[in-house]
Amino acid sequence: MSETLRIQRHDTHVTATLDRPEKRNAIDQDLVDALHALCEALEDEPRTLILTGAGGTFAAGADIAQLRGRRAADARAGINTRCFERIRRLPMPVIAVIDGYALGGGAELAYAADIRIGTPSLKIGNPETGLGIIAAAGATWRLREIVGEPLAAEILLTGRVLDADEALAAGLVTRVAEPTEAMAEAEGIARRIAALDPAATQATKRALLAPREAHPDIDLEEQAVLFESPEKERRMTAFLERKKAR
Ligand code: COA
Repeated sequence: MSETLRIQRHDTHVTATLDRPEKRNAIDQDLVDALHALCEALEDEPRTLILTGAGGTFAAGADIAQLRGRRAADARAGINTRCFERIRRLPMPVIAVIDGYALGGGAELAYAADIRIGTPSLKIGNPETGLGIIAAAGATWRLREIVGEPLAAEILLTGRVLDADEALAAGLVTRVAEPTEAMAEAEGIARRIAALDPAATQATKRALLAPREAHPDIDLEEQAVLFESPEKERRMTAFLERKKAR
């Protein structure tokens, strides 16, 4: 049990709150270990994940105090990269509620989510080159996929931090709401997802994450499995019966 990653389990979803506000939720090894343990639990028992941060901050990046001491072998081990990639590949959707700063590794953790909701105080970007490193935990491919190459290049090459309006306009967040409302919206989305067929949701996520060259074969294979599923039969029959009953 980590003291800096607070986990609440609900029937429809799990909420994980980065809770190290005195360090602006900087992601240190303890947090990475706790995120891996959370992934293991969600891989065993798939459920939508809501990721958020305590104290008016999402996460101000990787922990610079630890980062300074890391060497080439640590870079190659991809401490944050592997962790965020595992979050990205969780079977069920991941929703990030991003309040305040999401910088560097904090931004990359948000980029790993499937759905991002911001708050009016959002400040998101990648100042890594100012610290003498690159954003190697997802920004160079994920941010480009999300906002397109021109804006991703500007953010990554200049360290420009976007506010909530700019992030919304760029599609980096799809909604902006006050913190309590943003959490309520995320919970509403999680409940909505929980009412759908989990096998279809997980298949959709796998297809969404597949590389371009895997399509359309992967879609057809996923669909082939679902076409044989009793749940598809049940859901489609229920729809048709409802129509008939009217
Ligand atoms: N790593 C380690 N510690 C961090 C941190 C990080 N990424 N971000 C903040 N902290 C620590 C500060 O060192 C400070 O610790 P202290 O109280 O022991 O001195 C504490 O968190 C509060 O930070 P502070 O800078 O005083 O808060 P602020 O509200 O004035 O500013 C930020 C907030 C996010 C603008 C500022 O902390 C910041 O720029 N952080 C680094 C952002 C960054 O470069 N991230 C990329 C890392 S890859």
